[in-house]
Amino acid sequence: MSLFRPDVDRIQGYVPGEQPQDDGWIKLNTNENPYPPSPKVAAAVAEACSGRLNVYPDPLASRFRKATAELFNVDQDWILPGNGSDEILTILNRAFVDPGELITFPYPSYTLYETLADIQGAAHERLLLEPDWSWDIDRVRPQIERSKLVLVPNPNSPSGNCWADETIHELVPPNGVFVLDEAYGDFRAEPHQGEILHSDDGRRMVITRTLSKSYSLAGIRFGFAVAHPDLISGMRKVKDSYNCNTLSLAAATAAVEDQDWMLGNRRRIIATRDRLTKSLCELNFDTVDSEANFIWATHSEISHQKIYEKLKARKVLVRFMKFPESLNDSELTGLRITVGTDDETDGFLEILREIME
Ligand SMILES: Cc1ncc(COP(=O)(O)O)c(C=O)c1O
Repeated sequence: MSLFRPDVDRIQGYVPGEQPQDDGWIKLNTNENPYPPSPKVAAAVAEACSGRLNVYPDPLASRFRKATAELFNVDQDWILPGNGSDEILTILNRAFVDPGELITFPYPSYTLYETLADIQGAAHERLLLEPDWSWDIDRVRPQIERSKLVLVPNPNSPSGNCWADETIHELVPPNGVFVLDEAYGDFRAEPHQGEILHSDDGRRMVITRTLSKSYSLAGIRFGFAVAHPDLISGMRKVKDSYNCNTLSLAAATAAVEDQDWMLGNRRRIIATRDRLTKSLCELNFDTVDSEANFIWATHSEISHQKIYEKLKARKVLVRFMKFPESLNDSELTGLRITVGTDDETDGFLEILREIME
């Protein structure tokens, strides 16, 4: 007899991308930023280390919330920090969804949403995207209307495309909460800083952001939510008291306070992304116009899994992804390729060309 809850026995558990621990890899599989974080981060962490690590961190994350609130032009009580935006997603599930209530999300998309819904004991349904990654709003509307929580990444992963605000408004559930997962929001052609929260739908909307991507802090684990204080105050009740530690708070605050550094890296990544897209097209890959720090690439003639394996044998990691039961019951496969430095990108392309000869 199992000692676990049936929901836990039933699930596979989320499988994150590979993190090789030896050197020499061109690592383009988990959408990390190839550039280091602001030098002010290391200085802030060093200062925090020499400070009072014997006491608990500030449970209100006051300085971080002040810096972020200024960025989003809201009061501090609109901000809730978390141990990565994945933790914010867990908090959202706990705060808003009773067992059996419905969580929906686009598919193909970020597969963690499904795992978190299972852990919560929630019902969940996929909102199937069209083959060109657009929405058939009339088809998904009945599901949206029954949803307690709708989670939509914008830009989407693995496709990297972005949906316009008009589309986003159509996806807000009339009796639930809408989560706009902007993990890649800083890479958009025109990034926004929460303006959508001030629309009519704003009172049932939560934006989530991460410092893992644009701020180069995946190793620190830090994300945050921005939403109306009525939503934030309820979410705060279900978080762990000290969910962000003294060192991660120092790092995240220094990173957010150095916007110039983040924007400089953003510019470099976008320039490399456009060059990478062009080179992939020259190799007869089909790509989606990306507004993120990765590219979704498919090839009509060569097995994606084979390309992934051959690249891995040469110490190049990309993400091979498989989405069974996409629209019309078809299986979608492809490669999600993170934008690295220019050198990493050139190295990847050289090896890819050799493999495809
Ligand atoms: C769409 C999306 N949301 C959230 C996350 C989680 O980010 P974090 O590192 O802050 O937990 C990721 C990470 O890859 C992601 O792709």
